Amino acid sequence: MSFSAPIESLTQAVGNTPLVRLRSLEPPGVEIHAKLEWFNPGGSVKDRAALSILQKALPTLRGRTLLDSTSGNTGIAYAWIGAALGVPVALVMPGNVSEARKRIARHFGAEILFSDALEQSDGAIRLARKLAADEPEKWFYADQYSNDANPRAHELGTAQEIWTQTGGRVTHAVFGIGTGGTIMGTGRGLKAHRREIQVVAVEPAEALHGLEGLKHMPSSIVPRIYKESELDRKLSIATDEGWDMAERLIRDEGLLAGHSAGAAAAGALQVARELSERGQGGIVVTLFPDRADRYLPPS
Ligand SMILES: Cc1ncc(COP(=O)(O)O)c(C=O)c1O
Repeated sequence: MSFSAPIESLTQAVGNTPLVRLRSLEPPGVEIHAKLEWFNPGGSVKDRAALSILQKALPTLRGRTLLDSTSGNTGIAYAWIGAALGVPVALVMPGNVSEARKRIARHFGAEILFSDALEQSDGAIRLARKLAADEPEKWFYADQYSNDANPRAHELGTAQEIWTQTGGRVTHAVFGIGTGGTIMGTGRGLKAHRREIQVVAVEPAEALHGLEGLKHMPSSIVPRIYKESELDRKLSIATDEGWDMAERLIRDEGLLAGHSAGAAAAGALQVARELSERGQGGIVVTLFPDRADRYLPPS
C-alpha cells in the first residue's frame, strides 16, 4: 500500500512491507534480503493471516464470536482487526502468556480465556476445539492451523510482493514455521512464478525452545495447513543461534528483530554460505515476523 492518498480503514495498510538487504551478513556472490513484517499495523506478520481469516469468516459469522487459540501475535492481529471490522473476538491463550500480550488484546476489546500453562500452545488448541464443539452457536472457530485463508494471504500477498521487490530474481526463500501459513503460502506463490525457487523451513532445534512463534513439529500437533512434502528442505536452528543472530541484526543492521526473525536470518545465512562455498550466486529472501520490543520485559 502506498500512503499517497487517504485510506478508508487501517486494514488497507496490511501487507506491502519493505524488503531490506542485509549486506553485513552476505558471503561473496550471494544476496540476502529480509521482509520486515513489523511494518504491518498490528506489528507482526500475523495481520496478514488474521485479516484474510476474518474477511473469509464475515459472511458466515451470524452473530457468533470469532474464537481462536494463540499465544501472541495472532491474538493482537485478530483483536485490532476485529475492532476495525466490528467483529467480536475471543482468544484462548496459555495461562503464562506475558502481561503485555493480554493487555494489548484486551484494550481492543477481545475476550481472553486461559488454558493450562504447562500444555503450552497445544493446550490452547485443545481448549479452543472443546469450546467450539460444546457451543457451536456461540463460537465461530477460526482455527488458524487449519484455515486455508491463512496460507492464501501469503500466496496472494507476501509471495507476489517478494517476486516484484526482487524483480523476479529470488532463488531461495527461507521462513520460520509456526502455523506454517507463511511458508506454505509464500512457497506456493513463488513456485507458481518459477518452480526452481527453493523453499526452506526453519524449525527450532529443541522441543522446549525460546523462539516464540515457531513450532518444533516432531513434538507438536502438526497443523493441517502444514504440508512438509511441499518444502525443499528443513533446517534446525538452536535457540541460542536465533537469539545471537537477533543481537547481531540489532547491532550491525539497526534492525530490532525478534527471536524468530533471528532464527530465520540464521537459516538464510546458512543457505547463503553453502551457495557461496559452491561458487553459486543466489538471492536468498527471508522474513522477519515481528520486532524485539514485543519481548522486552516490563520495566
Ligand atoms: C513471532 C512469530 N514468528 C513466526 C511465526 C510463524 O508464522 P506462521 O504461523 O505463518 O508459520 C509466528 C506466528 O505466530 C510468530 O508470531
